[in-house]
Amino acid sequence: MAKPPIDPEKVVVFSGAGISAESGISTYRDANGLWAGVNPNAIASKTAWEKNPQKVLEFFNERMKTAALAEPNAAHHAVKDLEDVYEVVVITQNVDDLHERAGSKNIIHLHGSLMEARGDSKGSQAVYRGAIPIRYDETDDFGNQLRPNVVLFGEDMMHADESIDHIKTAGKIIVVGTSLNVYPAAGLLKKARYHSEKIIVSLEVDKIPFGFQMMRGKATEIVPSITRAWLASLAESEQAAPGKPDPAES
Ligand code: OAD
Repeated sequence: MAKPPIDPEKVVVFSGAGISAESGISTYRDANGLWAGVNPNAIASKTAWEKNPQKVLEFFNERMKTAALAEPNAAHHAVKDLEDVYEVVVITQNVDDLHERAGSKNIIHLHGSLMEARGDSKGSQAVYRGAIPIRYDETDDFGNQLRPNVVLFGEDMMHADESIDHIKTAGKIIVVGTSLNVYPAAGLLKKARYHSEKIIVSLEVDKIPFGFQMMRGKATEIVPSITRAWLASLAESEQAAPGKPDPAES
C-alpha cells in the first residue's frame, strides 16, 4: 500500500514531563522525580488500584492540585504559536493540562488527563471534571467508583492509531522533555518518515531514535527558538511562492 503523503505544513509535537518541569511539575525519572525511591507499581498501577484505591486516588489528587497551580511556560506557548501558520498536533504523555491552557487546540493525551474522571468499569465514558479531587466512595450514575482518566501501569495506552496517522504525515516532528523510556508511547516515533524534519529537545535521553537530531537543553530556552525559525521559514517560503498575489498590489 502506498504511504500517505507528508504534509510540510503539519507539525507533530510529542511531549513528556520535561516540558512542564519549568512550570514546577515534577518529572518521573530525573533525580528528584516522582519515581525516585518510589515503586510506581505500588501507587500508579492497575494492581494498586484494585488493592488500595484510596492510596491511588491520594497520589493522583495531589498531582492534580500541583498541575492546577502550575502555569504554562514559554515552551507550551511556543508550541501554541506554531498554530498561526502550521497544522499542529500535540501528542503528549503528560496528564497535566498545560498545553490546553497555553491554547493548543489539537491535543492527544496518550496517558489520559488528570482533569477527567470516569467510572471504574469497562466502557465507562470519561468526562471533564477540572481540578476537583476525587473522593473514595464517589461514584458515577451506575454506582462505579470514580477514578481519574489516566493510564495506570498495566493498562493500555490511549489513541495509538490516531497518533500514528499524525506522525506518519507530519513534515516536522519536535519531541520535547521525554526520556523515551516508556513503551508503547516512545515506540510511536518509529513511525516518523525518513524525509520529515525530526528534533528532540531534552536534558537527557537514553536512546535517540533513528533520524532525530538531539538538541540538549531546557525546553523554555530551545523550543521557542526552533518554533520561531519554523514560523519564519514558512513565512519566507510563502512569500517566495510563485503566482501568489502580492498584497501590496491589491
Ligand atoms: P521522564 O521523567 O521519564 O523524563 C523526563 C525527561 O525530561 C528527561 O529526559 C529529562 O532529561 C527531561 N527534562 C527535564 N527537565 C527538562 C527541561 N527543563 N527541559 C527539557 N527537558 C527536560 O518523563 P516522561 O518521558 O514524560 O507514564 O515519562 C513517560 C511516562 O512515564 C509518563 O507519561 C508516565 C511515566 O511513568 C504513566 O504514568 C503511564
